[in-house]
Amino acid sequence: MKKLCLLGLAVGLASLPVAADSKTAPIENKDAFIAHLMKQMTLEEKIGQLRLISIGPEMPRELIRKEIAAGNIGGTFNSISRPENRPMQDAAMRSRLKIPMFFAYDVIHGHRTIFPISLGLASSWDMDAIGRSGRIAAQEASADSLDITFAPMVDISRDPRWGRTSEGFGEDTYLVSRIAKVMVQAYQGKSPSQADSIMASVKHFALYGAVEGGRDYNVVDMSPVKMYQTYLPPYRAAIDAGAGGVMVALNSVNGVPATSNTWLMQDLLRKDWGFKGLAVSDHGAIFELLKHGVAKDGREAAKLAIKAGIDMSMNDSLYGKELPGLIKSGEVPQSDLDNAVREVLGAKYDMGLFKDPYLRIGKAEDDPADTNAESRLHRAEARDVAKRSLVLLKNEKQTLPLEKSAKIAVVGPLAKAPIDMMGSWAAAGQPAQSVTLFDGMSRALGDKGQLVYARGSNITTDKKIVDYLNFLNFDAPEVVDDPRPEQQLIDEAVQAAKQADVVVAAVGESRGMSHESSSRTDLNIPETQRKLIAALKATGKPLVLVLMNGRPLTIGQEQDQADAVLETWFSGTEGGNAIADVLFGDYNPSGKLPITFPRSVGQVPMYYNHLTIGRPFTPGKPGNYTSQYFDEENTPLYPFGYGLSYTDFSLSNMALSSTTLNKSGKLDASITVRNTGKRDGETVVQLYIQDVAGSMIRPVKELKNFQKVMLKAGEEKVIHFTIDENDLKFYNTQLKYVAEPGKFNVQIGLDSRDVTQQSFELL
Ligand code: NOJ
Repeated sequence: MKKLCLLGLAVGLASLPVAADSKTAPIENKDAFIAHLMKQMTLEEKIGQLRLISIGPEMPRELIRKEIAAGNIGGTFNSISRPENRPMQDAAMRSRLKIPMFFAYDVIHGHRTIFPISLGLASSWDMDAIGRSGRIAAQEASADSLDITFAPMVDISRDPRWGRTSEGFGEDTYLVSRIAKVMVQAYQGKSPSQADSIMASVKHFALYGAVEGGRDYNVVDMSPVKMYQTYLPPYRAAIDAGAGGVMVALNSVNGVPATSNTWLMQDLLRKDWGFKGLAVSDHGAIFELLKHGVAKDGREAAKLAIKAGIDMSMNDSLYGKELPGLIKSGEVPQSDLDNAVREVLGAKYDMGLFKDPYLRIGKAEDDPADTNAESRLHRAEARDVAKRSLVLLKNEKQTLPLEKSAKIAVVGPLAKAPIDMMGSWAAAGQPAQSVTLFDGMSRALGDKGQLVYARGSNITTDKKIVDYLNFLNFDAPEVVDDPRPEQQLIDEAVQAAKQADVVVAAVGESRGMSHESSSRTDLNIPETQRKLIAALKATGKPLVLVLMNGRPLTIGQEQDQADAVLETWFSGTEGGNAIADVLFGDYNPSGKLPITFPRSVGQVPMYYNHLTIGRPFTPGKPGNYTSQYFDEENTPLYPFGYGLSYTDFSLSNMALSSTTLNKSGKLDASITVRNTGKRDGETVVQLYIQDVAGSMIRPVKELKNFQKVMLKAGEEKVIHFTIDENDLKFYNTQLKYVAEPGKFNVQIGLDSRDVTQQSFELL
């Protein structure tokens, strides 16, 4: 114990690797320092650096420490506290070269304080709020000894069948790219070497969100133009913002798994984009090269991966085993190994670990007595961000906001669901610390109004689905049924509704339904909950649906039945309070959808900026050989960018400063936005551009800018957007990024559907 404490205190030269105190390699010179260190490394020590290992049945704590001390492990993931990680760093300091370990974790939307899931964060369209969530996540994670996160996850997702839609920031290239940059800067702060920063590793490179059929881990087959234009820019934005790492996707890209894809990993990422950081495989992905059918055995898989440029092998089973032989036989050149080792050491250097291996671990005597202590949470910030992420989808007859003096029936399987509130990938979040909808509402009411609770239904009555969800990801079953018969639950809720002035029903998905490996063919709210909604509707009481879900759901019928609908995603530790803030009007909702809501699953993929076609659907003219579904309306249920407020906003006086734009010039697009209602509120003014006739087909519109504006009741502001040639560029058939002269439509709206338009000509 004493020894551990001493090692824990070691932040000076005594703990530095051999190379650090060498006269020939001052630590200030990264390249020279690493080159000098590498000269001293044996083959085994080099390979050890490429192995990223998690504590588990095959790698118990004692064994992992032994392996670290022997120089056989470069970093761990999933061990998330200082007392857990300190002994491992101590072990590294006992190794021959004292190369520090790094400690990684999936800090996606918060660490101990859980913020809304990424899709919710994106719904805020509030870069400041999103950035704050990322910074706090970094502070909390680094205070728990973590050095690097596998985030941001910036996979564009246009197929809500994909369960990981919840983990990304939606469908739009521009919005996701903006958020990618903000998140990287938030995690890394001024530098990933700061004690309260963590390194970002953007994922999943690349195109994971486009898996065929929305089925997780499936293939991706995509035209180069679509890749460059739509799917790749967010990763690039994260890298340009300085992300130190990249996590490589599990899917294949046009026939070659990302993990062995030299075009993706070398030509694009390293050569074209100039990425100089750490490329980490996804969990077990190198072994999966056998399953993909591109490697005949483990040896070939390891060879393909290292040659493609996978520096670190997550949950490694093959690098450690196969690389020694591959290097000795010359099948893998030493330079490939050295490149990978250099990146791993470079990342550790950038994390500040060579200067101080205990930078984020700190001293044992400073360890928090209780890692889950309330004092370690950032509740106020979480509540503030969460309320900004909520999207009001419907509000008839001013059903919302609710009176605090009302008698309210709170029903639904998600009304008292602390685990679901946090959403998937909830890092170190504790369900016991998350505020449920019921708790949030009852705190908001105090002794004024009255809440009557009834569960009303289970998440689903499909036992197979419950078993799947409970088996899937979690140690303990988290979808726990009320054993009473379905009708009895509904009847109880109906009784509660009848006694109340208004009904609030928390319905949707359990968090595991929107998670890795949780693809769905059906985007409906599960049937038993729909029966509940119908029964509540039949009471004639005003009905408010509070949706909790990690993807767009097909809620046409439920929307019709409800008087008000609030999309809350999974809104995190403070979700219940934040939702109550909106339900009772203490905060005026300002969120906008970052993803289209289809009417039915058959419309998928459905996204606002689709390409133009030769026979576009003409509303009001069915059967005229245009592109349409004859059995469904041909519009989304809610378009991208949509979201209501308790006040109203109008747009007027759109103007362009000129009808022409020179290639080196700038154009001002302006519009007056006015709060025409009686409450102060925020809205998002969105700028879209359409290239009317290009050398190839172009989207009907593309988001190019937006501003979130706060307006007092009755107030108006003139909003300005600057447009220049860069906003008009696209990847043409030769993959050249160009702006072509001709006509452009500029559209401004408060969502992507209702816009006002003006045009100009690029000369
Ligand atoms: C697999 C997931 O695909 C990835 O996103 C995650 O970072 C790793 N597991 C580590 O948990």
